[in-house]
Amino acid sequence: MKVLVATQKPFAAVAVAGIKKIVEEAGHELVLLEKYAEQSDFVAAVADADAIIVRSDKVTAEVVEAAKNLKIVVRAGAGFDNLDLAACTAHNVVAMNTPGQNSNAVAELAVALMIFMARTQFTPATGSEIQGKTLGIQAFGNVGRLVGAKAAALGMKVKAIDPFLKPEQIVAGGAEPAKDLAELYGTSDFVSIHIPATPETIGSIGYDLLMKMPKGATLVNTARKEVIDEAGLEKALEERPDLKYVADVAPDNLAVLQEKFGLRVFATPKKMGAQTSEANVNAGLAAARQIVDFFATGNTRFQLNK
Ligand code: 3PG
Repeated sequence: MKVLVATQKPFAAVAVAGIKKIVEEAGHELVLLEKYAEQSDFVAAVADADAIIVRSDKVTAEVVEAAKNLKIVVRAGAGFDNLDLAACTAHNVVAMNTPGQNSNAVAELAVALMIFMARTQFTPATGSEIQGKTLGIQAFGNVGRLVGAKAAALGMKVKAIDPFLKPEQIVAGGAEPAKDLAELYGTSDFVSIHIPATPETIGSIGYDLLMKMPKGATLVNTARKEVIDEAGLEKALEERPDLKYVADVAPDNLAVLQEKFGLRVFATPKKMGAQTSEANVNAGLAAARQIVDFFATGNTRFQLNK
């Protein structure tokens, strides 16, 4: 079988070597498409692929239709808003992710971004400390729980909310359950977002929630830019000169925000939450193993389009 690794943002070399070893030892062939310039390059490369490993690469209906031999696609990572699951299902393609494998890298970045903003983007201006402050975690899954544990170790009070968890499960994860989003935002000096981009969440965080935040609060987004209502964010930052926004996923209006609000807004130049060699190895090798196992035994654990 031909396994294509298609990554616009490549894995670390050590991860690629590990993926290659797993695929080849199982008797399959590995093909690499890295740093491709156009989506059409991806579409052209899938023609004879039996399996595809991607990161945030867009597995559109066009990609699935062009991949006539495709049986499985694995998103090496957590969020799968880049996969057209309906197209995969329509073409009998199994779609999977590798949940949890890159969570620690994202969680470490979320904590780093909090400190970066508390210390005024590492400029000499007087900053503040995160110890003793309250962190609200929106969605207490793999990443959210790790952020909570790290923040607690740094002396923060941790609150969380998750529509899929009971309050006692949040307590068991080491956080105080918030009754609703209004309470989470209204009582947290920092809110860290860990929700996926879905039709329900897209544009769901904006003016109303931001305006509830306490004086000097910071919103931290290492999830997806789409969950933010950017016009609402801009309006809130305009009306509340004490609020800050930091993101690993630059908003479309970043240039305007930075011009208007200076050091109160920061976004990484390219999404880098999962960009550690450890996360690349964990997620990349998990994806390769899931494909090899699927071909060998038909194992569909982690299938998203069941
Ligand atoms: C994820 O959903 O796993 C993260 O956002 C990482 O995305 P990336 O593989 O494009 O860095």
